[in-house]
Amino acid sequence: MAANSSPCAAVDDAFYQPADSFFPAQQGVALTYDDVTLATQYSEILPRDSSLDTNLADRLHLQIPIISADMDTVTESRMAIAMALNGGLGLIHYNMPERQQLSEVTRVKYHVHGLIQEPIKVSPDQFIGDVLTLIEERHFSFSTFPIVDAQERLLGLLPGHVVRSRYAARKVSEAMMPRASVQTIPERELQPDPIARADRFFNEHLGIHKLLVVDDQDRLRGLFTLSDIERITQEKAAPLKPGRDSQFRLLCGAAVSATRNSTGDLDKSRLVQHVGALAERGVDVVAISTAHGFSKGVGEAVRIIRDAYPELPIIAGNVTSASGVEYLARCGANAIKVGQGPGSICTTRIVAGVGIPQLTALYVCGKAAQEVGVRIIADGGISKSGDIVKALTLAHAVICGGLLAGCPEAPGQIMEINGKLYKQYRGMGSPAAMKAGSAARYGHSRDAARKVAAEGVEALKEVSASLDSVMTQLVGGLQSGMGYLGAPNLAELRLRARFSRITPAGQRESAPHDIVEVKTGGANG
Ligand code: XMP
Repeated sequence: MAANSSPCAAVDDAFYQPADSFFPAQQGVALTYDDVTLATQYSEILPRDSSLDTNLADRLHLQIPIISADMDTVTESRMAIAMALNGGLGLIHYNMPERQQLSEVTRVKYHVHGLIQEPIKVSPDQFIGDVLTLIEERHFSFSTFPIVDAQERLLGLLPGHVVRSRYAARKVSEAMMPRASVQTIPERELQPDPIARADRFFNEHLGIHKLLVVDDQDRLRGLFTLSDIERITQEKAAPLKPGRDSQFRLLCGAAVSATRNSTGDLDKSRLVQHVGALAERGVDVVAISTAHGFSKGVGEAVRIIRDAYPELPIIAGNVTSASGVEYLARCGANAIKVGQGPGSICTTRIVAGVGIPQLTALYVCGKAAQEVGVRIIADGGISKSGDIVKALTLAHAVICGGLLAGCPEAPGQIMEINGKLYKQYRGMGSPAAMKAGSAARYGHSRDAARKVAAEGVEALKEVSASLDSVMTQLVGGLQSGMGYLGAPNLAELRLRARFSRITPAGQRESAPHDIVEVKTGGANG
């Protein structure tokens, strides 16, 4: 690395300051992303070599520090799967019945994870027509099923090529491949590396695409498919790996609501039951997202979850003060969301006159987070990859809503207006979203949702490219920023960041200007 003690370096140090000199010098003025710029530093880092992984809790490690917001127009299972496959995390929103949220989580956890531990089975007495209905109702993308008896003993395999409507009136037993012809492996032979063992099996058995796992009583214990194993082995060589848990399932988070019962108290048993059901489905983290996290109700909800599930990572928020971070940390949260009013659909600052611009809030909250040993997550107001770089000079991850809401993976229909394609994007504090369930997030009851002041708007986003392309742009921008700062990883990015304020003229200079733009920069702006 270049020496940093020359007179020239002293000039740089005076003008481009580290966070601990820069932010205290601005006391009394709150700054956000566009108010500052980062100085470049001596670098030996190629952007593509910078590593982006981040730890949000002992048991929550992400490959990239980007999380999709728990909003009903941003994250359901499709978005969460795509986020995890890109190395990030999706937080499934709670504006839906609890049962539906559980099955959304299940969909993520069971999306290609090597050994499918609870394969969907059929019985020999069913008709092929029943199997077709099952596929249609549950949106299965596969049509081969193991066949078991009432004791779960393996009887055979129903191959996909017979699951056709022309055979609907035939019984499964007539069409099945018998037990003797089905390829199986005893469960006890899988250790120590089940994926490597299955990979070896598929190499040795030309043309076989399914491998069933059985116990010593020939009961079905799992299923490997060739395509899953191939995807997983390819993944091992990829530079950006999907986010997976210890059982090789995709990571998934879910939001829970600090709901109150009819007497106005926190509904403790409902909360414990809800989180327990999510944990049973394998959820990796729960998020308690509210507009005002530095409050008794949110603190109590965090404490209840922490007591009931000591190991489960908890994200809680939102706050913008050091005391707020300290409070939620002491209640048991591992990662605290920072952001009140920066969101692209938020009107909290207009309606309630409160909130702090993001960078100052992140600095203040970050100081507390270091003291009490928690992480902070920058939530809202991220409109381009440069904002992510700036946010990560102070935080351990970012949450994006609007940047991802136009992707096909976000929930909601595409609509055409004057020849352009749009998707709905609405604040969780908008009247429609509160009516659909999120009123508690803003401290209101659902029934009252129409009578209280909304803190979010309903909007449209132009349909964007797939989440993979958007993430490629965002991650590419983040890695460029790390290259400019000479930061091989996110810890170094936080250490090496040097800030300078910019004026409106500087902001104008920072974006394309004095030209006629013929082609925009894409998702990355
Ligand atoms: P972006 O800027 O990524 O922000 O679209 C997403 C974040 O905004 C928050 N959020 C709201 N804040 N009123 C608010 O004041 C709302 O209706 C609202 N809905 C979402 C939330 O933190 C989200 O992650």
